[in-house]
Amino acid sequence: MCPWFESRWYHNPDKRTSVRLLHFGAAPMHDPSTLTYLDPTFDRLRQWVDDHRPTSIAVVMDSQTERHCLPLLAPHLPPGTQFLRMAGHGEGIKSLEHAHALWDSLEGMGMDRQGLILALGGGTVTDLAAFVASTHLRGTPLWLVPTTVLSMVDAAIGGKTGINFKGLKNRIGTFYSPEGISLHPQMLDTLDGREWRSGWTEHIKHLLLHDAELPSTDAASPLRRLLQGEAAQDEVATALLASVRIKSAVVSEDPFESTGRRRILNLGHTVGHALESWAMEHGEDINHGEAVAFGLRVCLAMSQAHPDCASARAMDCASCSALLQEFMPLPCAPPAADVLWALMGTDKKNARGEVQVVLLDGPGQPKEGVALTFGEFERALEQVVAD
Ligand SMILES: NC(=O)c1ccc[n+]([C@@H]2O[C@H](COP(=O)([O-])OP(=O)(O)OC[C@H]3O[C@@H](n4cnc5c(N)ncnc54)[C@H](O)[C@@H]3O)[C@@H](O)[C@H]2O)c1
Ligand SMILES: [Zn+2]
Repeated sequence: MCPWFESRWYHNPDKRTSVRLLHFGAAPMHDPSTLTYLDPTFDRLRQWVDDHRPTSIAVVMDSQTERHCLPLLAPHLPPGTQFLRMAGHGEGIKSLEHAHALWDSLEGMGMDRQGLILALGGGTVTDLAAFVASTHLRGTPLWLVPTTVLSMVDAAIGGKTGINFKGLKNRIGTFYSPEGISLHPQMLDTLDGREWRSGWTEHIKHLLLHDAELPSTDAASPLRRLLQGEAAQDEVATALLASVRIKSAVVSEDPFESTGRRRILNLGHTVGHALESWAMEHGEDINHGEAVAFGLRVCLAMSQAHPDCASARAMDCASCSALLQEFMPLPCAPPAADVLWALMGTDKKNARGEVQVVLLDGPGQPKEGVALTFGEFERALEQVVAD
């Protein structure tokens, strides 16, 4: 029987009615770590193409990834591959207009369900192309080639697709599993320093969620060398794959965000999103990694003081906080606590009108749905700003 469609008859003896119950589950979501390959020669991608002989291939990219990343991928693509380049790059491409343009191009080139959409780009390109692939013909095969640190450790992993709508981030989207994800660490060489460093914030978040020790500023630590851009390519690959494993394990427990387990990935994000909203409103240039890094620092301080996180008191947070401050500093002063608090109250992950956050009850011990008071938040914020 098809694993995601179940049909049975339900008989109600009192009312003498028979109703056919149709239970639709979502399409199965594979464990992302089993689909993610360190693929510097694109062997995995080529193998898939050889095995499946897609009727057509469309590479979706932005103006930057066409310039910097396509030269590394193009020699491995079969003749006849089509290239769909978005005008521009960045968050603006995650729009209905860009999705429309892609659907239009796919129709124009005769893409069918035996074809392949290949996303080459950062999280904006993979989110948009995956959304388009999941909706075109109710699902066209998709392969992801993430090209930023953030997209390799986070955005490409976990099956979430999305576009922004009416000024709200990721308002429209689907869950959709790609056929594969190729990581090509050399593609990261062309990222600018700020993009490189802030991309690793989500990696640090994964280590906080998983490891028995907090990341630290230790001069000899591999993480520090990574952030300084001094790590060898195999060390970069090891770090990328560690993140993929940690995120995949969480996603596999809650593939469709229904059990609540996946909420732990929100560590640092309630404060981070509030900062991003404030920055957008005030024309400040804070990127996602920087906002979340600040959010992580506040979460560490809040964890140590919160009555529900007794085991957090023994954590040595100062070194981890200093690491985040050194490599992903906020480019401007944060707003006052009450301004951020008001924005945190609008986070879609809150429940029962409370501000709820993920805290750490010790290294690798996330606790989600912790209700917060303004006083607790204000004290933690003051501490982080003073550090
Ligand atoms: N789906 C998910 O689960 C998930 C998770 C986290 C983040 N996201 C999304 O990811 C997006 C952010 O991703 P991002 O930080 O990769 O942004 P991005 O795609 O905008 O990339 C950042 C910039 O780097 C450029 N770029 C990409 N690769 C490059 C390369 N190799 N060399 C030089 N320049 C390059 C891009 O053109 C862009 O200007 C957000 O929209 C966020 O919502 C999604
Ligand atoms: Zn994030």
